[in-house]
Amino acid sequence: MCGIVGYVGSKKATPILIDGLLSLEYRGYDSAGIATIENDVIKVMKDKGRVNNLNNLEGINDLVGTIGIAHTRWATHGKPSKENSHPHMDNSGKFAVVHNGIIENYSDLREFLTSKGYTFISQTDTEVIPNLIHYYYTNGPVSVIEDTKEKFLGAVKSAIYDLKGSYAIEVISTILPDEIIVVRKDSPLVIGKGNGENYIASDIPAILKYTKEFYLLDDNEFAVIEKDSIRFFDNSLQEHNRAIKNIDWDANAAGKDGFEDYMLKEIFEQPTAIRETIGSRFRLGEKCSFDDIEISKEYLQSINKIFIVACGTAMHAGLVGKALIENLCKIPTEVDIASEFRYRNPLIDEHTLCIYISQSGETADTIAALKLAKAHGAKTLAISNVIGSSITREADYSIYTHAGPEIAVASTKAYTSQVVLISILAIYFAEVLGSSSETVLEELKSDLIDLPSKVEKILDDTEVIKAFAKKVYAEKDMFFLGRGTDYNVALEGSLKLKEISYIHSEAYAAGELKHGPIALIENGVTVIGIITNPNLLEKSISNLQEVITRGAKTLIITNQILPNGHFDYVINIPETNPLISPILSVIPMQLLAYYISKQKGLDVDKPRNLAKSVTVE
Ligand code: M6R
Repeated sequence: MCGIVGYVGSKKATPILIDGLLSLEYRGYDSAGIATIENDVIKVMKDKGRVNNLNNLEGINDLVGTIGIAHTRWATHGKPSKENSHPHMDNSGKFAVVHNGIIENYSDLREFLTSKGYTFISQTDTEVIPNLIHYYYTNGPVSVIEDTKEKFLGAVKSAIYDLKGSYAIEVISTILPDEIIVVRKDSPLVIGKGNGENYIASDIPAILKYTKEFYLLDDNEFAVIEKDSIRFFDNSLQEHNRAIKNIDWDANAAGKDGFEDYMLKEIFEQPTAIRETIGSRFRLGEKCSFDDIEISKEYLQSINKIFIVACGTAMHAGLVGKALIENLCKIPTEVDIASEFRYRNPLIDEHTLCIYISQSGETADTIAALKLAKAHGAKTLAISNVIGSSITREADYSIYTHAGPEIAVASTKAYTSQVVLISILAIYFAEVLGSSSETVLEELKSDLIDLPSKVEKILDDTEVIKAFAKKVYAEKDMFFLGRGTDYNVALEGSLKLKEISYIHSEAYAAGELKHGPIALIENGVTVIGIITNPNLLEKSISNLQEVITRGAKTLIITNQILPNGHFDYVINIPETNPLISPILSVIPMQLLAYYISKQKGLDVDKPRNLAKSVTVE
């Protein structure tokens, strides 16, 4: 949701900025723009539409500036248009700003600036920022500072001090045309260190091909970036040092690697992502261990409730986590949607452990929900795919999935890796607590180890799914039914379908069908059933029989032996413990959503209205 790129060095900035924006396209956006400085003049080029459209703007190839900032905008205040696109400049043309986030008090600030004679071109919240910087540069205590560097940074700081909300901001100025000032609060921003050049981006993969050395800014921390230096300041502008982080991701991992779409590539990367996530966290016959955390038996014994809090797909992974924790650790566990949790006064105290799951680690609601739990004295544990992401910096404990960069908006390998990681966490807790028998835990570990080859087996034969996608792609409604963890994964299957194929779908606990939704079942409606738990086999078949009787067309994803000739299509998947079967049963549903979307000619990786990283409420 909004993407930021910056460059300062000796090369032409424009191609680097546009390339960076293209890498951030997956975050979701509706307009794009860049600003560079040439001969002490800021040149801005921007428009609504795709990043590639920037290449067609008149004069873009003539820009020779070696410093620049760039942005992809996902509209919040004001519709997508050239005027509302970033960068935004102040009235004097001295300052240009790009911004990711939301300025909640922008109307008050706009009113204040208007009273001081400033005018506005856009409807955005962002446009107040360059004008506020100009205001402070020319008025008040900062304006009398003689040292220009100090004065520019002081003016940016004063402006930031007035902002309420979330932001990652880049500022350039004709006053100091060799530096970019950045600051962030609750929005992602990383700085990549080069040799005689430096880079800025919303996330690491966008600039991974230029450097593997990164600085991760804290909330309310400023950085002044020139081609040969990066300086860090706290919110009172005291300078400090910051440790560099080496990121060992493979730059090619962020490319398509011969696949038609990122989503398909990421679906096929799941065996590797699962293997990497298991890593060395356990071996058969040995206890689980996490290098990153150590949680004592005394602490776990003091816990009387666990909350798992997340959004979207990550929340669906949390539902499977609840089943695992309750079964293995016998600790009551609730799963909540972060945007609900944060406003519903949940009952949290020091005996509550709150687990937050977020692929990006930057989801605004999840971060806010984590801060809330901390404020109530609970311990917090983050599960994320991005090292150093905001959520991992806020949490008491952080553990990582090793899925590699996930670019497609529709999450696939992050989900399966999250379920794997939370399974290992549940086993680890159970071992520390002694709450499950060794045999049960060893069998589950063995099932986890076998998962990658079982996923490969499913991916080896996608023909039935492709054929089914061709049959149903024009439909308007579909239903997903399951019981237990089959219901949990049905929710994820339904979300995938909605997101990328734009087909309305509902997921229901199969036993709940008779309490209302069965009224929607009529001749020809497609129902997808998931059956992986032998204990629930007969009941699930009965529920599906009820929809067949009413004319539904059925596709069943199962690892059980089903009565012959009962269902229209059956996809057989390998057997595993029902607690972790979503890791296998989700794969045909991911592929189904993918092939339906392709059949409809849609943009699989960048579905309409969606952003990869939802950094605003
Ligand atoms: O980065 P996060 O895991 O916090 O993201 C949470 C959701 O926004 C995300 O899972 C979303 O639902 C995906 N588009 C699902 O495919």
